[in-house]
Amino acid sequence: MNIILLGPPGAGKGTQARRLVDGRGMVQLSTGDMLREARTSGTEMGRRVAEVMDRGELVTDEIVIGLIEEKLAGETAGGFIFDGFPRTLAQADALDALLARMGQNLHAAIEMRVDDAALVARITGRFTCGNCGEVYHDVTKPTRVPGVCDVCGSTDLRRRADDNEESLRQRLMEYYKKTSPLLGYYYAKGLLRGVDGLAPVDDVAASVAAILDA
Ligand code: AP5
Ligand code: ZN
Repeated sequence: MNIILLGPPGAGKGTQARRLVDGRGMVQLSTGDMLREARTSGTEMGRRVAEVMDRGELVTDEIVIGLIEEKLAGETAGGFIFDGFPRTLAQADALDALLARMGQNLHAAIEMRVDDAALVARITGRFTCGNCGEVYHDVTKPTRVPGVCDVCGSTDLRRRADDNEESLRQRLMEYYKKTSPLLGYYYAKGLLRGVDGLAPVDDVAASVAAILDA
């Protein structure tokens, strides 16, 4: 079963994707994570990607579709969670074609609804474990021991270069301009579902689970 998590920056896509990986053996495909890996590669492409991401703009469809295509090659029993992809109509068309070629389909595109005011607080308080990827928040989900990841014990806790108010404003602009048309795209296909992303993490997870089990 393959699903898309759709929502603005900070809506909780990564948080819910990790729950599904742990709980259902699904495979998370986050283009944001793939691009953050690419930017550390030291290549010219990596340098250009870093500049675009730090400004809060979208990386070109060509690069992103190429990354997804590589990762989709492997089969998975649990299904894929597309986290932060697709983000444009061209990416959505490309995903349809890739899945059709694999003889697979989409179960749902889940919109995580969160208002803009909450996103600033979420994004500016976020940090993640550089080793296992666990997502934390200064106020709502601090580590039990300061500076140490609860899951793996690593002290490599990181903040993202684009997690500041200026980049967030641009990321929101990109979301409403280029990604929100996908709501209509998936609605027309009968695949759009919605959850209240402002609810506590466990409640959001229960709403997502209900959609998967429907
Ligand atoms: P990407 O990495 O995809 O970032 P994003 O979409 O901006 O989303 P975030 O990772 O910021 O948020 P999230 O929804 O995963 O929230 P999280 O769970 O972490 O993309 C980064 C950049 O890469 C883009 O700007 C673009 O440049 C490029 N890019 C990526 N994909 C691309 C594509 N397809 N095409 C072109 N360019 C692309 O949660 C946030 C915080 O809130 C955490 O601290 C968490 O603990 C907390 N939180 C989560 N849920 C809750 C809850 N229910 N209640 C309270 N707190 C919560
Ligand atoms: Zn960790």
